[in-house]
Amino acid sequence: MKLNELRIGNLTAKIPIVQGGMGIGVSLSGLAAAVANEGGIGTISGVQIGFREPDFLTDPVSANLRAIGSEIKKAREKSKGIIAMNFMAAMNNYELYVKKAVEEKIDLIVSGAGLPIALPKLVKGSNTKIAPIVSSAKAARIIIKSYLKSERLPDAVVVEGPLAGGHLGFKMNELLEDKCMKLKDIVKEVKLLLSSYEKEYNVRIPVIAAGGIRTKDDISELKEAGADGFQAASLFVPTVECDAHYNFKSAYINATDESVKIIKSPVGMPARAVQTNFLAAGKLSIKKCYKCMPGCNPKEIPYCISEGLLNAVEGRDGLVFSGANLNNINKITTVKEVINKLIG
Ligand SMILES: Cc1cc2nc3c(=O)[nH]c(=O)nc-3n(C[C@H](O)[C@H](O)[C@H](O)COP(=O)(O)O)c2cc1C
Repeated sequence: MKLNELRIGNLTAKIPIVQGGMGIGVSLSGLAAAVANEGGIGTISGVQIGFREPDFLTDPVSANLRAIGSEIKKAREKSKGIIAMNFMAAMNNYELYVKKAVEEKIDLIVSGAGLPIALPKLVKGSNTKIAPIVSSAKAARIIIKSYLKSERLPDAVVVEGPLAGGHLGFKMNELLEDKCMKLKDIVKEVKLLLSSYEKEYNVRIPVIAAGGIRTKDDISELKEAGADGFQAASLFVPTVECDAHYNFKSAYINATDESVKIIKSPVGMPARAVQTNFLAAGKLSIKKCYKCMPGCNPKEIPYCISEGLLNAVEGRDGLVFSGANLNNINKITTVKEVINKLIG
């Protein structure tokens, strides 16, 4: 299988592999730089990125802003490759955080979980590229129509299918009953939609397919469907370079198909995660509100998502997001090995 370079505007990744952003703290500068050094695109997660800063509990916004700067700087020190940042559009202070990453000259902002409508305004006048994440051609059309009002198009589109990890852009019942459209079919639809804009505006908008990519065969199937890039996240968790605690990585190694569940996240969206005692407990008292999501009322939710994710990344019992099909993930490996296996 011959794979082409992945071109996003004036950025060229020698290999078309993108490491998906993983919050909280699972993909920071360590993992992102390692993937970028292999010629792919590494993604730092911007979700509550300041969790290791001393003032995170008292002033999370300042801590997050500072950590955006320091993680980008660390990634640049470790790699000359392409570094992206991922932000959830539904997060509190989303615009503030994206602007900070743009000021720090991040190469690419990838953004989903809500409609990332504000991106053209936030990157205006900079070289930062933008890639919205969608799970349907319908969402892609809405986003593009809104970008065109700012005379802008996305530089790439990430198409995330139903096998991805973390929050999912599908209905709960469709996920549980296995009735979602397959990733390759969504890729085909989005590709068709983009081709009309590509013709009209004489540009190329690459499609990056994400969700459940585990093997070379998955890549060749998605390539045939029209994908230009291939985003993997779960495969990069049990690597030496991944920024999460060893316990997080070993939760992946020990997971089976039965222990990976579709859950209703406290943010209201379905999500995929490894079953842990934290999740099994159902209702947990909330000691501290991190004010991460607008409209979240700690009295009405079963547990705090920030607390669950922070516990997990630091090695305590918590919320371990993961993609589907972890059966063949059974040892700690390296970023190089993961990429070699995927593209040979
Ligand atoms: C631990 C974990 C955390 C994730 N966190 C985020 C996130 O904060 N924002 C986001 O847009 N996607 C997030 N994702 C989705 C990934 O970026 C990626 O698109 C998806 O998981 C790809 O599927 P795969 O894990 O099967 O390779 C997360 C995935 C995992 C496994």
